[in-house]
Amino acid sequence: MMFRSLSARFLWLVVIFVMLAEVLIFVPSVSRFREEYLLARLERAQIASLALLASDGPFAGELAGELLENAGVFNVALRRDAVRELVLSSPLPGPIAQTYDLRDANAFILMRDALDEMRRPDARIIRVIGEPVRQGGLLIEITLDTANLQAELWDYGKRILLLSLLISGITALLLYLSIQVFVVAPMRRVIRSMAHYAESPQDVTRILTPQSSIRELREAEEALNLMQTDLTGLLRQKDRLAQLGGSVARISHDLRNMLTTASMLADRMEMSDDPSVKRAAPKLVGSLSRAINLCESTLAFGKAQEPPPKLARFRVAALIEDVVENEKLAVVDGADITFLTEVPADLHIRADSEQIFRVLSNLVRNARQALEATKQPGVIEILVKPSVQDGQPGVAIRIGDTGPGLPPKAREHLFEAFQGGVRKGGVGLGLAIAAELVRGHGGKLELMRSDADGCEFRIWLPDGV
Ligand SMILES: Nc1ncnc2c1ncn2[C@@H]1O[C@H](COP(=O)(O)OP(=O)(O)OP(=O)(O)O)[C@@H](O)[C@H]1O
Ligand SMILES: [Mg+2]
Repeated sequence: MMFRSLSARFLWLVVIFVMLAEVLIFVPSVSRFREEYLLARLERAQIASLALLASDGPFAGELAGELLENAGVFNVALRRDAVRELVLSSPLPGPIAQTYDLRDANAFILMRDALDEMRRPDARIIRVIGEPVRQGGLLIEITLDTANLQAELWDYGKRILLLSLLISGITALLLYLSIQVFVVAPMRRVIRSMAHYAESPQDVTRILTPQSSIRELREAEEALNLMQTDLTGLLRQKDRLAQLGGSVARISHDLRNMLTTASMLADRMEMSDDPSVKRAAPKLVGSLSRAINLCESTLAFGKAQEPPPKLARFRVAALIEDVVENEKLAVVDGADITFLTEVPADLHIRADSEQIFRVLSNLVRNARQALEATKQPGVIEILVKPSVQDGQPGVAIRIGDTGPGLPPKAREHLFEAFQGGVRKGGVGLGLAIAAELVRGHGGKLELMRSDADGCEFRIWLPDGV
């Protein structure tokens, strides 16, 4: 489109503004032109009448006609003082259509009359009253035909219009070229440089160097330069971390195999005749199986680019029941844990039921493990409610327990992989994975409460469409 580019917009705007300015100049100009025209006529008429006064000869009548013709008027009346009046007259071709008194006409009246004159289709006979020049009398009055005035007014108007077009054309062109040189070209350079950088953001040599002499553009270039430098640094760090992750995965893999062998050997130690070896064996097996567990979890997490959720509608109550049933089976003997659930029976949601099952299992398992560790009776409560967040419908799930609350280390590194785990046998991945899965759904997992009376987590899941 013609108006899309910056320079084209400028071009048009300049033409429009210059034309607007010219229109504002046009009206006073034609008004001034008309006034001067009429004043000149008055002056010529005054001279004509004075010339006649000077020649008192026999040809006065003939001379009067010639003088009037030269002055371009039909009649002149010059009032010299209270008594004397000088009149020159020739026959009028028609009636006087209008009288204009230039002595008390203000700028607005003059402008109105000038435009009015230009608008009239035909010429008329008008009377014009003014002050004689050089104190030549009290008043001077002429009658004239407006045909010539109209023609000259139009001629003058057209010249002004043509001049405005020329001025606006040249100004617009100059501005267009300046915008091209000072704004568009540097902007194009920035855009080209951004595209070049985007092809390979790891390459430091592709980072934009601020060059522009225009302050605003320079600031934009500097901000871009900063952003690209940060991004390139981050990408390089990410590469290094990915490489590190790869080696950790390889180490974990081989370590797990070695530990599995060691664990099998340790199993055999239980059959040893040496009572001290026999006693140590179960502890060794326990430690080894924990180490294997750690390796496996690390491997799983390393691979774990969690797939995007496969959304399908399911009944929330059924899923919660499954989670609770599963967890009940895992409760260690002797622990007294009560599970309470409150879920609207017909509440459905569109989400990935597998992933949500894992999220809830992780949270409920953590609560169960915390309660078991206290060796006290405890309650795990799951409350589900429909909930609209930021105008989006969804479901809120609260999981609370009456355990001891989060230990400080877990609180500090909440939802961070490998960081927050303090539980013996735990890896510290459960909450990190749960949070990641919920985020993948566009939802939110947050800790609502953690104190001596227990913990409460809240999940909000949008109803996927
Ligand atoms: N409901 C809870 N009550 C008390 N402490 C909790 C609760 N939930 C989590 N924690 C604490 O937070 C830590 C981190 O939990 P997370 O589930 O991330 O790891 P983990 O349970 O140690 O290991 P994983 O789940 O990977 O086997 C736990 O070690 C535990 O100390
Ligand atoms: Mg856990």
